[in-house]
Amino acid sequence: MLCGNEIELFHHHKIITVKEDISQLQSYENKQRRAFVKQGLMLTLSGIAGVNLISCKDGKGKEKEVSPPEDLMQEHGLLKRVLLIYDACRMHLVNKESFPMDAILKGADIIKTFVEDYHEKQEEDYLFPRFKKANQLTDLVDVLYRQHQAGRKVTAEIIQLSRKVSTTDAEKQRLAELLLAFNTMYNPHEAREDTVLFPAFRKLVSKHEYDSLGEEFEKNEHKRFGEDGFENMINKVATIEKQLGIYDLSQFTPQV
Ligand SMILES: [Fe+2]
Ligand SMILES: [Fe+2]
Repeated sequence: MLCGNEIELFHHHKIITVKEDISQLQSYENKQRRAFVKQGLMLTLSGIAGVNLISCKDGKGKEKEVSPPEDLMQEHGLLKRVLLIYDACRMHLVNKESFPMDAILKGADIIKTFVEDYHEKQEEDYLFPRFKKANQLTDLVDVLYRQHQAGRKVTAEIIQLSRKVSTTDAEKQRLAELLLAFNTMYNPHEAREDTVLFPAFRKLVSKHEYDSLGEEFEKNEHKRFGEDGFENMINKVATIEKQLGIYDLSQFTPQV
C-alpha cells in the first residue's frame, strides 16, 4: 500500500519518509541516499526490519522518533537472534560437531556491548526506578534486575571460555551449559518485559515524559554506537548467522 508517491519505511528506530516511488530510485542523484534506501528495502525484504505503512496525514519528510518500548522491543529482536545463535552453537557442542567456535565469542560480544552495557542499562536507569517509585510491579522489577546481574556473570564466563585458542571437552561442556542457562533465562525475561513491563510503562509516565524519553533513548544510542549503531549490530548478527548456516529464513518453514 502506497500513500500517493510516498513510501514510509520503518527502518531501525525511526521512520523515514521517502518522497519517491521505488521505480524512481534509479534516477536518484544522491548515490549515498539511494544506497541507504536500497539497503533499507533489502533489510525489509529479508525480514530484518519491519515495514510500517502509516497514514498520509502524518508529517512529511521529517523523522519520527519511536517510543521507548518500541526501541527496547527492537533491541529484544536483536537479543533473540543472538539467543538463536547460542542455540545453534550449543547443539553443535552437544552433538560434538565441528563448527566455527568464534561464533560464540562474536555473539557474546554483542550481548555484552549492546544488550548488557546499553539496553539493560536503559531499563535499569529509566524504567526500573520509575516502577519502584510508583510502587508498581516491584516484584517483577526485582527479578528482572537480578536476572540482568546473573546474565552478566554468565556472559563473562562465556567470553572467557570462548576466547581460548583450544578448549577441552570439559570446557566445551561448560560452554554448552552456560549457553543453555543464558537462553533459559532470557527467553522468558524478554517476553515478560515485552508483554507486561513495557505496556505498563506507557501508563506510568505522562505523554510528555514518554515522548522525551524516546528522544533520550535515541540520543544515548547514537552517542554510544553512532548513527547506524543498531543497523551495524543487526549486520553483525546476520554475518554470524550466515557463518552458522541459520541465516536463510525459509529453511525454518515446515514442509506441510
Ligand atoms: Fe531486562
Ligand atoms: Fe530488555
